[in-house]
Amino acid sequence: MRTPLIAGNWKMYKTPAETKEFFSRFLPLVEKSTHADIAICPPFVDIAAAVEAAAGSRVGIGAQNCYWQNKEGAFTGEVTPAMLKAAGCAYVIIGHSERRQYFGETDETVLRRTRAALEAGLTPIVCVGELLEEREAGRTNEVLQRQFEGGIAGLSAEEFARIVIAYEPVWAIGTGKVATPETAEEAHKFLRSLAAAKFGKAAADALRILYGGSVKPDNIRGLMAQPDLDGALVGGASLKPEDFAAIINF
Ligand code: 13P
Repeated sequence: MRTPLIAGNWKMYKTPAETKEFFSRFLPLVEKSTHADIAICPPFVDIAAAVEAAAGSRVGIGAQNCYWQNKEGAFTGEVTPAMLKAAGCAYVIIGHSERRQYFGETDETVLRRTRAALEAGLTPIVCVGELLEEREAGRTNEVLQRQFEGGIAGLSAEEFARIVIAYEPVWAIGTGKVATPETAEEAHKFLRSLAAAKFGKAAADALRILYGGSVKPDNIRGLMAQPDLDGALVGGASLKPEDFAAIINF
């Protein structure tokens, strides 16, 4: 049985003061929510405030990116996974489509960052997903397979057992155009089949695959009813305590 994970990706939103305010309203709303693991991934500068606010709750904190080594060094602007762990993070999002599109992230750097995150004891949430033109050209599976082979398949079996995959079709991110439950399920099933072929059926069965892209309180239920959908990675709707709590308590 896979425990669902519902994670919020705050992207480049909120200050430390706003983070504190969010948690004071959010935590009471999910106090009794034990059916799913819960995570919030704020910007780096808000991690300390989030960790402090979430202390003693079931909400885990994560970052949105990390460097691909744990050894400190002269790499201006980067943060090691070990630093995130020391700051109280449990999760880190890796290879989000916005990082792939705007900041040159590749399947190769996704694999390196994932390995470093695992080495530091973080749970990586590794993102994959196709662009609109790729879907329209009927190339969704080809793209997912390439991202899986390049960014994930190089992990050891032991490493693979500790990751979460997020399927985020780029055309559904921030557009209000959520994938239908059936479309999402098809991609999740395909990703699980890739995992089974590479790491075996037991590992594939244990893998959590989250859906991301315009998840809202009014569409989460249909998505979660799909057998291969093990949670959600929520952008915009995770910024409002009431909306994110409603998604968690679907
Ligand atoms: P939205 O929920 O705002 O579409 O964002 C999804 C996402 O990119 C989560 O990582």
